[in-house]
Amino acid sequence: MQKIEKREKVLVCGGAGYIGSHTVLALERAGFEAVIVDDLSNSKASVLDRLQQIAGRSFKFYRLDLCKPRETLELFRQESPAAVIHFAGYKAVGESVEKPLMYYRNNLDSTLSLLEAMQKAGCRRFVFSSSATVYGGVTRMPLHEDDPTSCTSPYGWTKVMIEQILRDLCVADKAFSAVLLRYFNPIGADPSGLIGEDPQGIPNNLMPYITQVAVGKLDKLHVFGKDYPTPDGTGVRDYIHVSDLAEGHVAALDFSRRSVGCRAFNLGTGQGVSVLELVHAFEKASGQKIPLQIEGRRAGDIAECYADPSLAEEVLGWKACRDLEEMCRDSWNWQKNNPGGFPES
Ligand code: NAD
Ligand code: WQD
Repeated sequence: MQKIEKREKVLVCGGAGYIGSHTVLALERAGFEAVIVDDLSNSKASVLDRLQQIAGRSFKFYRLDLCKPRETLELFRQESPAAVIHFAGYKAVGESVEKPLMYYRNNLDSTLSLLEAMQKAGCRRFVFSSSATVYGGVTRMPLHEDDPTSCTSPYGWTKVMIEQILRDLCVADKAFSAVLLRYFNPIGADPSGLIGEDPQGIPNNLMPYITQVAVGKLDKLHVFGKDYPTPDGTGVRDYIHVSDLAEGHVAALDFSRRSVGCRAFNLGTGQGVSVLELVHAFEKASGQKIPLQIEGRRAGDIAECYADPSLAEEVLGWKACRDLEEMCRDSWNWQKNNPGGFPES
């Protein structure tokens, strides 16, 4: 008789969002059972139909605000997941400066109620969406995991604080495994063109701004600064394909099965790319001209930010493999097929 393996169940908190939805697909492809939890505060229910179209099966979904401790605990009682990936949170740096309490409340409370529910349910594997923003004060590139952490925005501080909470928890509970994944700049989309980044209002980030110019929703790109000490004077970042990033979570889950304690990993390519280089790569991949205008620097921006991703390769066995052309092609494929983003459902 054929032996039926039970698939490991993973709670994907914030799984209807940009990185979470791509991670649901990566988990499915790797043989995990993903259960999606999201309050849809920054995503739409139609992403679930799209995931079903791509995967050929539906995913269990709970619409829940994870800041609610009782409901979160009830979820653990119903599902008994083996592990949790925590994407849920607000992420706009500028908005966090305007509304710091909203950011501290949502990002910290959702994390605390999840961790408390995990403790009560005996679930001890946690993968956390951290960010390169935690290297706030470091100017020497590339960034290493043991560089000091600091921050310049309330959003960033929520990441620094949650990292500390997880470190403290791992000291108290020697069987707990927390993996801090520090993402650099995710762009791109699943090659199906059915899911992708769908910002509300005018995009803050570079790639969605470029794709909205290409599709005719915005007139031109405003390039923030051409006087940085970089090869062409524009800001340099480490862009990473969201599907590579998603696969990094599968590697982190595997690692959490064989490790205890708290470890941080950079998820980036290690390649710095300037604003103008990204624009040119996008124009080449899409065949669309991107009109642009040089402006002054954006407040709070730094000249360069890129990772040393070697620790993730060494310890997790993960390395980004999709190049800039693929990132641009897939971002454009998503945007041109969905000029208005996900449909309302
Ligand atoms: P996203 O906004 O697309 O996804 C986050 C999801 O969490 C959304 O679907 C939202 O509805 C949900 N959510 C928010 N608060 C919630 C709550 N209280 N309860 C339940 N669901 C809630 O963002 P993303 O780009 O996919 O980012 C995912 C995570 O990665 C975030 O924590 C973000 O801070 C982090 N991150 C993102 C980037 C980036 O550039 N996109 C870079 C570094 C780190
Ligand atoms: C990239 C480059 C801009 C828009 C932000 C967050 C960070 C992280 C990722 C979550 C910079 C330039 C941008 C535009 C431009 N998120 N730019 N015109 O600044 O690296 O980081 O997103 O953790 O915390 O701060 O990414 O995409 O905003 O900017 O010229 O319209 O593009 O100045 O050089 P950034 P970005």
